[in-house]
Amino acid sequence: MNQTISSPHKIVGEISPPGDKSISHRAALLNSIANGTAKISNFCEGDDRTSMMGCLNSLGAEITEGKIDGEFIIQGNGLQGLSEPTNVLNAGNSGTTMRLVSGLLSAQKFYSVITGDDSLRFRPMKRITTPLNLMGAQVSGREKNAYAPLTFNPSNLKGIEYSMPVASAQLKSCLLIASLYAQGKTIINQPSNSRDHTERMLKSMGSNIQSEGLQISISSSELNCVDVHIPCDTSGSAFWLVAACCHSNAKIIIKNVGMNPTRTGVIEVLKMMGANLVVTNESVQGGEPVADIIASSSNLKGIEISGEIIPRVVDELPILALASCFADGKTTIKNAEELRVKESDRISATVDSLKKLSASITELPDGMEINGTGMLSGAKVDSHGDHRIAMTNGIAGLLADGETTIQNSEAANVSYPNFWKELSKIQKA
Ligand code: S3P
Repeated sequence: MNQTISSPHKIVGEISPPGDKSISHRAALLNSIANGTAKISNFCEGDDRTSMMGCLNSLGAEITEGKIDGEFIIQGNGLQGLSEPTNVLNAGNSGTTMRLVSGLLSAQKFYSVITGDDSLRFRPMKRITTPLNLMGAQVSGREKNAYAPLTFNPSNLKGIEYSMPVASAQLKSCLLIASLYAQGKTIINQPSNSRDHTERMLKSMGSNIQSEGLQISISSSELNCVDVHIPCDTSGSAFWLVAACCHSNAKIIIKNVGMNPTRTGVIEVLKMMGANLVVTNESVQGGEPVADIIASSSNLKGIEISGEIIPRVVDELPILALASCFADGKTTIKNAEELRVKESDRISATVDSLKKLSASITELPDGMEINGTGMLSGAKVDSHGDHRIAMTNGIAGLLADGETTIQNSEAANVSYPNFWKELSKIQKA
């Protein structure tokens, strides 16, 4: 599918991005192995939700849709309540599904296999298979355990101390989930902070988990189901924040956005660039901070984005690269080599798209360098089959002169099926 977008003379309105994908995935998985019943509302939308729910249902989890859109009722059957799937599990395009569900499968008393789509089967899995096997799991994968399909044989896990080679919340969560079943304590040392939704949710479910600085320790414990109202996705909101900040006549409001500090790197970066962002109505819902954000036309300036903040802004780097095209001066993104192993190689996909739109951008091995020119020219660009690249290109279309056509725009369905509808709504407002 193609979408053709041109820049409206103003961007105004209220936008409601879907429920947060990371929190939704954890709420579904952890409640399925807890005791009791949980109601989850404002669950994320899109193909990644289908992938996670499909895997959990195939494992015998009792999940039913509630009366309201985005509501799910989960009957938790405890840590040992899952059953052997009768077919290969399919995580589709979702790295979070594959890595979190693998933590679960590695600890079961039954055999299972998990695979994914053409992108996911080439994303690195050694980062999870190595520590899981150190814990006593029987996990194998293609090319010496590097890639899916992954197979799991019954095993008994033991706690380990492990220093993670990458600051990945998916790896951390995989190990935390496995450690719920392990004998003895598991200690995880992180190179730097990444999203901590798993730790927060496990704490609220009564798990035996402690975090101190970059170290997390956890030992086996039963969990209690918790109701969760999922905040709007911080990463989904970022597209609209950038649209408003970079357009010369814009003001939008996004309500109930997740403001977990391990996710708000994008707001910190935009503020450092001089963005007009106002955060109001702050509150805490279900252990997660939320707020409304008002974003309006801004005079951005180029900065360096590197180091500790990268894992907290990892999904927003393509849209920040777009914002940098409208900033005064040079923006450098460094230490972001993880972008190369996302749903696409997001460094080359971003550079390819923005170059086609006449940006002054150079690819670096671990990031990119952008000279802000304050304008882009419409062109034909491609989603590279990646939802975040599709949406970054859609926002570029709102900002560029002339018409921008986004090929394979349906990739946005992975996390934000209403994205194009929302975009046309604010375009017409
Ligand atoms: C996610 C963690 C991040 C992020 C992904 C979702 C999660 O991946 O890119 O979209 O829900 O844990 P890594 O933790 O592997 O960087």
